[in-house]
Amino acid sequence: MGTGRSSAVGGVDAAGLSRRRFIAAGGATVGALLAAGCGRGGPRPVGPSAAEVAEAERRRRRPGAAVKEVALSAGPATIALADLTAATWAYGGTVPGPEIRVRAGDVLRARFTNGLDEASTVHWHGIALRNDMDGVPGVTQRAVEPGGSFLYEFAVPDPGTYWFHPHGRLQLDRGLYAPLIVEDPSEPGAYDREWTVVLDDWADGIGQPATETLADLRAGRGPHADHAGGGGPRSDLLAGPGGDVSYPLYLLNARPPKDPAVLDARPGERIRIRILNAASDTPFRVALGGHRLTVTHTDGFPVEPLEGDAVLVAMSERYDVVVTLGSGVFPLVARAEGKANHALGVVRTAPGSPPAPDARPAELAGRVVTAADLTAAGGVTLPPGPPDRTHRVVLGGGTDRYRWTINGRAHEAEEHRPDEVLPVRRGEKVRLVMENRTTMFHPMHLHGHTFQLDRRGAPGPRKDSLVVRPGQRSVIDFVADNPGQWMLHCHNLYHQVGGMMALVSYVR
Ligand code: C2O
Ligand code: CU
Repeated sequence: MGTGRSSAVGGVDAAGLSRRRFIAAGGATVGALLAAGCGRGGPRPVGPSAAEVAEAERRRRRPGAAVKEVALSAGPATIALADLTAATWAYGGTVPGPEIRVRAGDVLRARFTNGLDEASTVHWHGIALRNDMDGVPGVTQRAVEPGGSFLYEFAVPDPGTYWFHPHGRLQLDRGLYAPLIVEDPSEPGAYDREWTVVLDDWADGIGQPATETLADLRAGRGPHADHAGGGGPRSDLLAGPGGDVSYPLYLLNARPPKDPAVLDARPGERIRIRILNAASDTPFRVALGGHRLTVTHTDGFPVEPLEGDAVLVAMSERYDVVVTLGSGVFPLVARAEGKANHALGVVRTAPGSPPAPDARPAELAGRVVTAADLTAAGGVTLPPGPPDRTHRVVLGGGTDRYRWTINGRAHEAEEHRPDEVLPVRRGEKVRLVMENRTTMFHPMHLHGHTFQLDRRGAPGPRKDSLVVRPGQRSVIDFVADNPGQWMLHCHNLYHQVGGMMALVSYVR
């Protein structure tokens, strides 16, 4: 069987493969549904190649929509990190990979070529796309083997700040990530300039390989000594440790603090900074020295603008902030929350000496905006009313054996095919009640949908990734309007690989 496909229409020759794969790989999934009392002749999963998926895509397609063509290759690359050189894996030879820009309503056609020596896929994080293009090996497609290629083609419905990355093994902890910016044709120009800021925790090519880090975590060994039994640095905001892994460097647009990325602008300009956390194990607290930030969007969707001194950005979250610039040279600092060290960028509107690599602006200790403070903008709130269906999502496990669970189940495998299945039906308003019974926070991410955080009945922000702190119970709602099989997982890569995954499964 070939490894590539070359159809111009998404999903055609992959469909047979996907369907067989889904059935072959999905024994546990179907079994779990049956065991859950569905019975013979009862609900059946709507797979990635189901007619409903193509149907939903047809409704998203706009007549005359522009088609954006991109070639996207993953392969080995070498990057400079100040005085160090790191051999890594990257898209298009750069870290972050080349930013993709489309307009809402456009069709993205991305030809992915796998130049790695491991199978890979591309996941389009946060996009409400057709299920067979979601890039989850073993769930929505067969992984693309080394040397193979795959054509991703889908309508991009919603404007905002998104990104893409692989969805298997530990590939995300290398340099394989890039922003996907979806412009809003109807957005009034409320800013003069924009800057995409991608944060990451970095060891690849300069520190311990991720596979060894995972082996150490599983064996209960360091270097993940940022916490262990409650010792080490903690984050008050996260009510626990910031992560499990110590990284030698934290990067902003793949630059270390000694050689920071610089945005040149003019005093008085309003800039929109799109902050994206592509790290595997590190949340960041972000502040711009000498300025307050106004948060305008999270995970692509608008919120009622809220001003603060800093913003907390957990793994896979995005926050767009608007700032009116003063005159001078200012440090943009992303402090690794609950860890030591930080990433640094520079905003320069006048001559002056660059900020010190260890700059710590006072704003970091000011008011920190988190998702729980935000309210969805009027136009994007979900219709009010009680849910049609509620699922409990209990987050469990811990660093003992490094097994992380959802509802008591862990799926530990390189392919992300979860055992815990949460059935939903198309058209339902679905509520997930997430309860964190562990001692760490988890940035929980749902594929294919942008849910809404319930703030005790008030409309919290629309999001696709949400921090759930230890002991916290978070309620999120979404409208089941995108049929298929969708991952729900922790975006701490090591927790995910340690099993903290479930599948939201449309059934008919
Ligand atoms: Cu950003 Cu399932 O991932
Ligand atoms: Cu987690």
